Amino acid sequence: MRAYDIIKKKRNGHVLARGELASFLNGYLKGEIPDYQVSAFLMAVFLKGMTAEETMALTGIMLSSGAAVDLSDIPGPKVDKHSTGGIGDKVSLILAPLAASAGVKVPMMSGRGLGHTGGTLDKLESIPGFKTGLSIKEFKKVLSEVGCAMIGASEEIAPLDRKLYALRDATATVESIPLITSSIMSKKLSEGINGLVLDVKLGSGAFMKDLDSARELATSMVQMGNSFGVKTIAAITDMDQPLGMAIGNSLEVIESIDAMEGKGPEDLMEVTFYLGALMLKVANIEADIKAGKKRLKQLIDNGSALRKFKEMVEMQGGNPEIIKRSTLLPHSCLSVDIFSKKSGYIRAMNAEAIGTASMILGAGRERMDSIIDHSAGILLKKKTGDFMGKNEIICTFFTNDEEAVDKAREVFHGAITLGENPPEKNKMIIEVIE
Ligand code: URA
Repeated sequence: MRAYDIIKKKRNGHVLARGELASFLNGYLKGEIPDYQVSAFLMAVFLKGMTAEETMALTGIMLSSGAAVDLSDIPGPKVDKHSTGGIGDKVSLILAPLAASAGVKVPMMSGRGLGHTGGTLDKLESIPGFKTGLSIKEFKKVLSEVGCAMIGASEEIAPLDRKLYALRDATATVESIPLITSSIMSKKLSEGINGLVLDVKLGSGAFMKDLDSARELATSMVQMGNSFGVKTIAAITDMDQPLGMAIGNSLEVIESIDAMEGKGPEDLMEVTFYLGALMLKVANIEADIKAGKKRLKQLIDNGSALRKFKEMVEMQGGNPEIIKRSTLLPHSCLSVDIFSKKSGYIRAMNAEAIGTASMILGAGRERMDSIIDHSAGILLKKKTGDFMGKNEIICTFFTNDEEAVDKAREVFHGAITLGENPPEKNKMIIEVIE
């Protein structure tokens, strides 16, 4: 079938066969089908959706477009955690060493931030010397010796996703359930894991803004993982305001270290312990969530998680001294306190807008090739439900770009809704899909 006919078939809402998808997309990967036809195809998928069978075929095509890591020679349960992305979401930095100290092998391949969302790789790269571009051999060495290793997906992992994602980003076709499912799952299924915990974010800072869509995405990814033989569970968690108090790369590394020292903010720790307990469940280490959370808390309290983090940082070339001396991390020239204009209870903090303010300060990328400032970001002093007096400090901006401050301040103020009463507290763990 010609590329034109495949686009037309999807545009008209029909189901594409695996062979049709494969010839179209492999043709794209080989450079035989141009970007403009694939862009039209992506928009047709965005508008008309895909059946579970089509999504599975798409995932399989993306997966087999590249290499898969073989971890069969590393003993123990290999379980990863993946988040659909949010603001201030530094859970991976804490959870990888924490789960590893409970006996899980955590081979984590992460991505970079784009737009208002942050990325684990950028956070790790704010640690001086830390290498995220390890070869598979080096990755496996760190994984077997430490129990966790954190790198970026190499060029060989799902190259079709890399090409499609860049096109989706430029054609407003990112927020599509079959496209997100195949993109995330093809990369995760290449990791050689036997278990996966998905953190599907819901709220103002997430791709999914309503519970039905979050549920649909979680179900689609869970089905996909299990169909490919990877035991997969998803939790839908709150992303209606930033997670924790720090937004921005080195600021989030500092907050993660605090968390591993037992001083983490409540919302961050709740999500971390819950997802960690799901990892222990998937790994068949602890079936009961309550018992899993208790075990993980002990591993924070006795310093095991922090020791693991230190080992991983050291083995991946990073300076472990950052743990004791945060001044060794990149720090910005400017810090600017932001004052509230009125008094009242914070009823909402639009996480996407706060992520955008942080990006304006230099912490995020507007485009995939933008350069980020690892020291930039926002440290919140208040969260939803807190009372704020007029002229009280609501947050501090960190940046090296003086000209960005006014614009970021305006965006930040626009993110805050005040009222006379505090709102009802959101549940952090909204639903679990197995
Ligand atoms: N992250 C991905 O890797 N892919 C998507 O489609 C969305 C988020």
